[in-house]
Amino acid sequence: MNYRSPLLNVMTGAALKAAKGLIRDFGELEQLQVSKKGPADFVSRADHKSESVLRSELKKARPAYGLLMEESGERAGTDTSNRWVIDPLDGTTNFLHGIPHFSISIGLERDGEPYAGVIYSPIADEMFVAERGGGAFLNGRRLRVSGRRNVEEALFATGIPFLGLGDHGLFLKQLGAVMAVCTGVRRYGSAALDLAWVAAGRFDGFWENGLHPWDITAGIVLVREAGGFVSDLSGGRKMFSGGGVLASNAALHEPLVALVGSAARAPATAP
Ligand code: IPD
Ligand code: CA
Ligand code: CA
Repeated sequence: MNYRSPLLNVMTGAALKAAKGLIRDFGELEQLQVSKKGPADFVSRADHKSESVLRSELKKARPAYGLLMEESGERAGTDTSNRWVIDPLDGTTNFLHGIPHFSISIGLERDGEPYAGVIYSPIADEMFVAERGGGAFLNGRRLRVSGRRNVEEALFATGIPFLGLGDHGLFLKQLGAVMAVCTGVRRYGSAALDLAWVAAGRFDGFWENGLHPWDITAGIVLVREAGGFVSDLSGGRKMFSGGGVLASNAALHEPLVALVGSAARAPATAP
């Protein structure tokens, strides 16, 4: 078991340090309705603070690695094999609304492939970790994806596109196809945690169109190390080039690809 490997220690240490600031800021949000610039500006500062803590902690421990960060973009490293892929606050809308479901996601890409992942949910104090070949763990307990085999018993998660972003018509068709045949569909608002929860067997599968590398790199390692499958929405490998992400267990991965894919081919419903 390597859930306490030196690499994962570095990653969890950085996540815990950045989380302290997020927890403090989350607690202060209530006071902010009166502030001049308003809560959105405050949250964006919390986000940037978290990213700068993560950047300096990870740089200190592995000075040569490159970085890809949601807020400050890409910084090449002298070690061209290793790159951190970071979302300092995933679930920003939840955070802004005082909903305690948000996370810090730190992925490590090695030679272009997801290699290690840490996703931390500060308010729940749940630390999800995985390193290739070493298994996936939640607070030190080994994780397995769910064992459900039938779509009718499955609980899936997704992400809903919103104002000004994404293909709303396509998503509604995907949702229509999936919701008609399964136990339920959830939209919790942190894609990183959605993937971690698939790894933990809480969700039987997850799909979302058009996510970014920082939303998914850590989660991909978690799902795979927990025995699950991750692909783009057509079952291929284009998760990092606009293909969307679909994750599930061995039995439900193909059926979910078929359902989501059938939506892409379905004609629009009459108004
Ligand atoms: C968002 C969350 C959300 C997903 C969005 C993401 P952010 O990330 O992961 O669940 O549906 O597509 O952009 O903006 O909170 O870091
Ligand atoms: Ca995100
Ligand atoms: Ca973010």
